[in-house]
Amino acid sequence: MSNNQRNSLFVRAAFSEGTERPPVWMMRQAGRFMKEYWDIKNKYSFLEMCKTPEIAADVTMLPVDLLGIDAAILFSDILVTAEAMGGDLSFTQGVGPRFANPVRTADDVERLETEVLDKLQYVADAIQVIQERLNGRIPLIGFAGAPFTVMSYLVEGGSSKDFKLTKLMLHNQPETAHRLLAKIADVTTQYLNLQIRAGVNAVQIFDSWAGALSWDDYKEFSHRYIAQIVAGLERSDIPVISFCKGSSVFAPLMAEAKPDVISVDWNADLATIKRSLPEGIAVQGNLDPHILYAKKPVIRERILRLYESMKQEPGFIFNLGHGIMPDIPFDHVKYAVEVIKNELS
Ligand code: CP3
Repeated sequence: MSNNQRNSLFVRAAFSEGTERPPVWMMRQAGRFMKEYWDIKNKYSFLEMCKTPEIAADVTMLPVDLLGIDAAILFSDILVTAEAMGGDLSFTQGVGPRFANPVRTADDVERLETEVLDKLQYVADAIQVIQERLNGRIPLIGFAGAPFTVMSYLVEGGSSKDFKLTKLMLHNQPETAHRLLAKIADVTTQYLNLQIRAGVNAVQIFDSWAGALSWDDYKEFSHRYIAQIVAGLERSDIPVISFCKGSSVFAPLMAEAKPDVISVDWNADLATIKRSLPEGIAVQGNLDPHILYAKKPVIRERILRLYESMKQEPGFIFNLGHGIMPDIPFDHVKYAVEVIKNELS
């Protein structure tokens, strides 16, 4: 791949090399906090946006053009793999994702398909359009959901507060749970390799809800499948980022899966986590996204404070501890990016 971005600020930081300032991007940067997102969203459904390469590219480019971030992230969703496997997926405003055919039994798991790359070709097509638009300016991050998080949507049939049915499957039907996780992990590995072949410059694995698990259950039902995915990626010069809400606790296990970067939630002191990790693992994070609701002097002070604690450490990517909320003022997000780009060195 000609456009490998190996010398970009973002990829160098991801490989724990020293950089003149930390690169910055923000989880959920291509989304509803932007008026320009709504201009597009009002014309199409969310899945139509994901499945039409030109539209996915338009949305991916919004934060590149309007915020000036140091990495773009593919506009898509972690649930497109589950849809391709047979999940009857819909997104409804105010409700979020739903699967009309939840996966609850061994037979439901058996029915899920794993040879599904043809159905995800639209993602590869979107990546090609985005790379033409980016034209070598900054790297493009591809992504997928971690097996446990994707499993939780399939089992619950949508979002959940307590993951009761999912955890019940882990505890009462562990063989069924493992079969389901293994199938998702297989598809996820193939899917991330598809994205890498199509030209992404980094990949992030989102295990958004792993924080619901105990240490032992995280190890058995999440960690081992992430490790399997990381080991199965066909990559050179493509850093892998592992994100989990719960990384403050699970960071030592996450490191064993051998990602290049661990994306840390906002509960932890980032420098303490960084120093506890094996050499060569970078960190990404970890501003509380709620800081972006606050007054600008507060936003600036918290950014400078985080940087002060991290500036001795090679391998730091500035980000939030989780995604931007839809009602955070655009102007505050733009201000944060400016402070990071102009005041940190
Ligand atoms: O980060 C980006 O800007 C890139 C695009 C992206 C989306 N979803 C677009 C999206 C990414 C990386 C995701 C990942 C994703 N999707 C995660 C992991 C990240 C995280 O925040 O923990 C999860 C858990 C999902 C599942 C999902 N998709 C939910 C729960 C929802 C509904 C709730 C919500 O936050 O809106 C979605 C829908 C979704 N995915 C939207 C967007 C822009 C909103 C769709 C709309 O316009 O209504």
